[in-house]
Amino acid sequence: MKLQITKVAFFTLLLHNNNNNNSHNTSNVVVVNAFAVKASNNSNKFAYKSSFTTPNKSTNLAAVSRKDAYSITLLPGDGIGPEITAATCEVLQTLTKKCGFTLEMKEALIGGAAIDAANDPFPQESLDQCLSSDSVLLACIGGYKWDNNPRELRPESGLLKMRKEMGLFANLRPAKVLKQLIDASTLKREVVEGVDIMVVRELTGDVYFGTPKGIDTLPSGERVGYNNMIYSESEIQRIAQVAGDVASKRQGRLCSIDKANVLDVSQLWKEVVTEVITDEFPEIELSHMYVDNAAMQLIRWPKQFDTIVCGNIFGDILSDEASMLVGSLGMLPSASIGSSGPGVFEPCHGSAPDIAGQDKSNPLAMILSAAMMLRYDLDRSAEADLLEAAVEAVLDQGVRTADIKQETDNCELVGCKEMGERVAKLVETMDMPATTV
Ligand code: IPM
Ligand code: MG
Repeated sequence: MKLQITKVAFFTLLLHNNNNNNSHNTSNVVVVNAFAVKASNNSNKFAYKSSFTTPNKSTNLAAVSRKDAYSITLLPGDGIGPEITAATCEVLQTLTKKCGFTLEMKEALIGGAAIDAANDPFPQESLDQCLSSDSVLLACIGGYKWDNNPRELRPESGLLKMRKEMGLFANLRPAKVLKQLIDASTLKREVVEGVDIMVVRELTGDVYFGTPKGIDTLPSGERVGYNNMIYSESEIQRIAQVAGDVASKRQGRLCSIDKANVLDVSQLWKEVVTEVITDEFPEIELSHMYVDNAAMQLIRWPKQFDTIVCGNIFGDILSDEASMLVGSLGMLPSASIGSSGPGVFEPCHGSAPDIAGQDKSNPLAMILSAAMMLRYDLDRSAEADLLEAAVEAVLDQGVRTADIKQETDNCELVGCKEMGERVAKLVETMDMPATTV
């Protein structure tokens, strides 16, 4: 059986492992660059190579064909969400002006903000708006204020509802150590230098959504809590296909994570992943690892991993772990996609309520998420390359937010807003990258 999910196929085609190179607005409608100017001279003077991705080879297959105006739903969410969204919008505004296209960004509510406004962490109106856009850019959700709410009125429930309702079954979380930030990692330089891992996490199944679930009271009066860790064959097949596709465009090594020595659901997972990869991706070197060992190996010698595929809960845990190899959760973008419809692009980090509103957050993960959106949903790979290059350039200039600043690094400490402005300035002044082939 071949991969029939065209969007996913396209998306993952672009996830190469490159071995060679190493306004916000409070109003409801934010039209970025309503008066688009002509693209600046794309003269290929600056044939830069980004550390984030390799050239995009199949722009014609994008989820949304290239056009001059796109509709984007912006979900600022909670905590530091609004400030990183503002910084990202400023960067996007500069980018669209320079490159001659328009992003019509309309905000919608999710998380605590939606609970406060509509008593629903992801109201139908937000879902409808997301589904009718070309793509969705999400900041982060959650905060102390809603921590004691009943489950259905917690911000996290909004996120889960969004994933399920939009069919976003594949979540891609790259953890690539940038040379500029090696010392920001808590691990030794020789362990993290050169690490480049892609975690492919299944996002709409497993114990997150399995039923039955609940907390019951037994006749004895004792309470029992339970969830169902469950995967159907077809759910495993489709994520294995995505992972196979991703791995085949990287180093061709795929490690599937399970707990098959204990769990039946993992036994099926292992069998189905093996079938799919053997039948459809025979060139891929497939290995299997128990999740506890994987957690240890990720810290011991992360360079052994290329692409990792796992179920929802194991992926949740391991992707946080992998992110710390990179130094800060504040640097990691992610993409969630389904077989059709818009994808959702969001930083891996949470809403950091402890520093919310203090201009201390790091907007780079959201800016990099916007780059993923441009590349994978909007058929704008050159613009995505430029954004990623600008992020690397700002780090090269020694500009750091608090989360990636080391005491002794002599770098300049800036706030979220300033970081956004610096990246925007670079977007404005840097040459467009060479057209990728
Ligand atoms: C993540 C988060 C979410 C998850 C929470 C906020 C529901 O931890 O995206 O990794 O568990 O999936
Ligand atoms: Mg998580």
